[in-house]
Amino acid sequence: MNGALRSGVPPINARVAGLGGSPIRELLRIATAPGMISFAGGSPANELFDVAGVARSYAEVLAQQGPRALQYSSTEGEPELRARIAQFLTAKGVWSTADDIIITSGSQQGLGLIGQVVLDEDAIVLTENPTFVSALQAFALGGARFRAVETDESGMVPEALEEAIIRHSPRAVYTIPTFQNPTGVTTPRERRNEIADVLARHDIWLIEDDPYSEIRFRDEPYSPISSDPRLAGKSLYLGTLSKILAPGLRIGWIRGPQEVLETLTTTKQGISLQTSTIDQLAALHWWENHDLEEKLDPVRAEYMRRRDAMVDGLGHALPEGSTFNRPDGGMFVWASMPEPYDANHALSVAIADGVVYIPGSQFYVSDPVPGTLRLSFVSNSVERIHEGIERLHRVFAEDYRV
Ligand SMILES: Cc1ncc(COP(=O)(O)O)c(C=O)c1O
Repeated sequence: MNGALRSGVPPINARVAGLGGSPIRELLRIATAPGMISFAGGSPANELFDVAGVARSYAEVLAQQGPRALQYSSTEGEPELRARIAQFLTAKGVWSTADDIIITSGSQQGLGLIGQVVLDEDAIVLTENPTFVSALQAFALGGARFRAVETDESGMVPEALEEAIIRHSPRAVYTIPTFQNPTGVTTPRERRNEIADVLARHDIWLIEDDPYSEIRFRDEPYSPISSDPRLAGKSLYLGTLSKILAPGLRIGWIRGPQEVLETLTTTKQGISLQTSTIDQLAALHWWENHDLEEKLDPVRAEYMRRRDAMVDGLGHALPEGSTFNRPDGGMFVWASMPEPYDANHALSVAIADGVVYIPGSQFYVSDPVPGTLRLSFVSNSVERIHEGIERLHRVFAEDYRV
């Protein structure tokens, strides 16, 4: 590639010049067309944001500590917010102090920083297959390559993980064990322990991405894999306020060993100096003045109704022989249609019929399965979900011929 763009434009970094855009981003653009019912995005429901509460927090922060909120601040983040997050993680079983936390501008920045600091040219990252594509994009910035670990309906298979570690000598394992994006799969407790046993035996990083665990529909919190004390020196545990409070705030964090947090901090400094001071203080103010569980309960209840509306409709909408899950939390349902159905081919018909989803093949590291699709159940009301399901039914029953 040689960093060439086209004649007349000076060269740029050869590795990033070769990176393609994300086809998923293009779909998300289509998804905003008027009248379209989108099951494509992973955005929380607009109508469930606590707009008034967040407005109050910004106003009070400005009134009480205006100059501080408008000033530059530290790269690793506001100390009180780091302490609040440490408390939150400790309650989840991941024992932490403020010094174990760096604030990031959304967990996506955390993934990007890890891509640059922990992974370098040709480092291998083991991943679930399918997985969250934007993490792959972030890791690819450092030149990482990916290998899939066999997964089943309980997540990564521990024996397959160990085999892959021995075979590929990876630098890291990237996993989303709770309400995974894109499959909605959750790794049960026992399986988490087995994965921790494997990781404890090897000198590699665990990159555990956990944006969805608070969006749970059963009163059964899962301990993160990173809660295993044997992994304290090798786990990078990412969290975010995006799905709990609002993605527009861009507040996320990494909890990790202090040695590597120092390098992550210097790297963040080189990229962005810091995360917005006022946004951190407003988020902290909101968090300290609300009971998170009380705030999340109605959101969980509404998302669960939406999940049920979608899952109950899918049997009617998708071709006979399709399978799909009923996730215990998060935002996504994963469906598989039998051969020869192809979710990529059907997509243009679906868009013409006013409904859009993401073909599952977009999420695979290798061996994409054409009949799979990811459907988000959170961003539409139950009524819109019913209408979208009817449109999908029309797509597969009438308008799309395989
Ligand atoms: C698995 C996963 N990780 C990270 C992110 C990024 O979230 P944030 O808004 O905190 O950058 C998302 C967003 O959808 C996600 O699904």
